[in-house]
Amino acid sequence: MADYNNIVFLHGQFMPMSEAKISPMDRGFLFGDGIYEVVPSYDAKLVGFGLHIERMQNGLDAIGIKLNMGVDDWRNIAQNLIEKNGKGNLGLYLHVSRGADVKRFHAFPENIQPTVFAYAFTIPAPPIADKLKVKQYSVTSTEDLRWKRCQIKSTSLLGNVMHFQQGREAGVDETILYNQRDELTEASACNVFVVKNDVIMTPPLDNQLLPGITRNMVLDILRKDGTLHIQERPISMTEVHAADELWLTSSSKEIAPVVELDGQPVGNGRVGDIWQLAQTLYSANKHNY
Ligand code: PDD
Repeated sequence: MADYNNIVFLHGQFMPMSEAKISPMDRGFLFGDGIYEVVPSYDAKLVGFGLHIERMQNGLDAIGIKLNMGVDDWRNIAQNLIEKNGKGNLGLYLHVSRGADVKRFHAFPENIQPTVFAYAFTIPAPPIADKLKVKQYSVTSTEDLRWKRCQIKSTSLLGNVMHFQQGREAGVDETILYNQRDELTEASACNVFVVKNDVIMTPPLDNQLLPGITRNMVLDILRKDGTLHIQERPISMTEVHAADELWLTSSSKEIAPVVELDGQPVGNGRVGDIWQLAQTLYSANKHNY
């Protein structure tokens, strides 16, 4: 999957990727002026679709892009892409840029049509809640040098891309980020959870992190279960380094256990019991969203 024969959606039509063309004057290309989503789908079942579209609409409102598309229009596109490209484990990439103008000028142009693009790509199978079988993640940490509007899922991702690359070059899977007060924000493409003494913690929502749909679902599922204590609060990097468990969450990973941070083991260096419980509950409940 994911080659030039894939069927993608652009400018209101389905077509092979090789035929999909956008203008070089598109503001998505020139300015990264757009909003995107990645929605997971397993065996043609979309996870958290309504929540993803709601976040996309919040992003479009935040940057003043007017688009006449509702959740049913998006669902229709997503289902068509799944049908045309095969079921399996897919990420649906949905993208809206402000559109193409005839000149490059920073101010929002009037009377241009947003560019709508969507395609499907293969994602890994969801984790099985088994400590011995799940992929174990290693991460590094660095100061968060992105912009101050990280709650907007903007296509301007250079800050995230550079942080992700830092981790790659250090030979690890992800880079977790902290602000100038030495508090955890998120990772370059995931949210972060910390477990200490059976308490599950994650930073509160503000402009320093993306309101992850997986984060939101994990919190909701764990609160409904009621077995574990949950805290949304600022977390210092000292606490992160002293954690029993560390998790990354994202639509394509669900809950990913981290066993190494900055070259040191997290907790006892093995995947934890609380992760196993959380991923078990997540697997059982994710299709309710
Ligand atoms: N990344 N934080 C950032 C910076 C992200 O880019 C993502 C998602 C998340 C997790 O959000 P969610 O649970 O809604 O996927 C947190 C996507 C998958 C990406 O850019 O590919």
